Amino acid sequence: MAENVIEVSNVSKSFGGVKANVDITMAVERGSITGIIGPNGCGKSTLFNSIVGYHPIDAGSIKFENQEISHLRVGDIARLGMLRTFQQTRIYSKMDCVDNMQISVSHRPGSQSTMFASRRGEIRERAEHLLEFVGLYSKRNLISGDLSFGQQKLLEFAMALMNEPKVLLLDEPTAGINPTLINGLIDRLRRANEELGITLCVIEHNMRVIMNLASHIYCLSNGKMLADGKPEALQNDPRVIDAYLGGH
Ligand SMILES: Nc1ncnc2c1ncn2[C@@H]1O[C@H](COP(=O)(O)OP(=O)(O)OP(=O)(O)O)[C@@H](O)[C@H]1O
Ligand SMILES: [Mg+2]
Repeated sequence: MAENVIEVSNVSKSFGGVKANVDITMAVERGSITGIIGPNGCGKSTLFNSIVGYHPIDAGSIKFENQEISHLRVGDIARLGMLRTFQQTRIYSKMDCVDNMQISVSHRPGSQSTMFASRRGEIRERAEHLLEFVGLYSKRNLISGDLSFGQQKLLEFAMALMNEPKVLLLDEPTAGINPTLINGLIDRLRRANEELGITLCVIEHNMRVIMNLASHIYCLSNGKMLADGKPEALQNDPRVIDAYLGGH
């Protein structure tokens, strides 16, 4: 039987009177690409924030590799091997791409050893290799604030890969990316999953992308888990069509 790398059980999270997540239960299988869809404001990003320890949850349990992590914070969870990217990119816009890559390694265990020159060389090499992987090698010495929005999202993806995560949570990776570049991004996400062995959990509004990419999809609505299943089944689920697909 396939093993779950993330197990979310009965998680709730409110902000004042707003019930952003209500009794959410879901799992991500190791090695999978798992999708999360749902209308604007239904609680997708909140769920990611809860999983990676960005805020404490009100109730429920979150396990990573069978270990309870709901009491841990972002840095501890990153060290266990789980990272997220943001809906709005977070790069250091005045630094060049290679420097952005190098600075993002600090999440890793043993990062104090980055002081040593041999380790610095190794990190630079990996930075260049991963910039090539995402198609930004020719831009590696450009100030990242000068990249297009889509290129900045690719840089952010590469920065996350620098930390060699076991699991990467991607919040709308294709948002704002030129449609002609989206296929390239899908290809890179798939390669990160297949070649680098990274489990991916992807929030995505673009149905073509998520149907193409994910083996299992969860659909949230109004903070609750509405339905889940294989892409084909979910696409034809009347509840999902009513809540979400109908409007797209
Ligand atoms: N830090 C916060 N403080 C107060 N309310 C918040 C906070 N974060 C999220 N919310 C509220 O929680 C609800 C869920 O928001 P969330 O960002 O999780 O939705 P989403 O599904 O990611 O939406 P979108 O598709 O637009 O990104 C919304 O009503 C939002 O306004
Ligand atoms: Mg969101």
